[in-house]
Amino acid sequence: MIIAIDGPAASGKGTLARRIAETYELRHLDTGLTYRAVAAALLAQGLPLGDEKIAIEIARNLDLAKMDKAVLSAHEVGEAASRVAVLGALREELVRLQKDFAQTPPGAVLDGRDIGTVVCPDASVKLFITASPEARARRRTAEMVSKGQEAEFSSVLDDLKRRDARDSERTVAPMKQAADAHLLDTTEMDIETAFQAAVDIIETARKS
Ligand code: C5P
Repeated sequence: MIIAIDGPAASGKGTLARRIAETYELRHLDTGLTYRAVAAALLAQGLPLGDEKIAIEIARNLDLAKMDKAVLSAHEVGEAASRVAVLGALREELVRLQKDFAQTPPGAVLDGRDIGTVVCPDASVKLFITASPEARARRRTAEMVSKGQEAEFSSVLDDLKRRDARDSERTVAPMKQAADAHLLDTTEMDIETAFQAAVDIIETARKS
């Protein structure tokens, strides 16, 4: 079974993907980390984020098991990741790794922006998780504050909107709900309610 989960930043898709993977005993890949890992390596070497040749080289040597979520979750790495994510040949390299991960038994949950449309177009179930920009900015601000980081709601909101625009307006594999994906709007939901709603969708889809 392959479950594809897409949606914008801070929609709750990462937490949902992790919990769904645990529930169905599937492996989980947060594909955003692959773009973040490439961006972080370019930043660390002081190289321009548009250097596709080096970016591809980094992607070829990427070990999915060694991606450090704590380091890669930094705000500026997310911003840099969305800049490298416009590079078409780099995406091809990362999508190859992601497809290999998805196709290894017993199946997997992948979350990202183009899972239902590009990486796993034949997924058993596709979810598109969304929430209003304000709700997402509130969650992201609270999360940053809880980690002791400085965060101001209005600038977090501006950053999210800018990243949404870049991710959905790029020409290669833009963030988009697949035609056969189930839309889950979590604006008015806490994580428990959203998780139950996601499981209900998966169970219904499995029976049909
Ligand atoms: O999900 P996360 O915020 O970690 O993703 C960081 C960036 O990586 C996104 O803003 C997006 O530009 C890019 N990304 C992508 N395709 C994916 C996953 C992430 O383009 N499947």
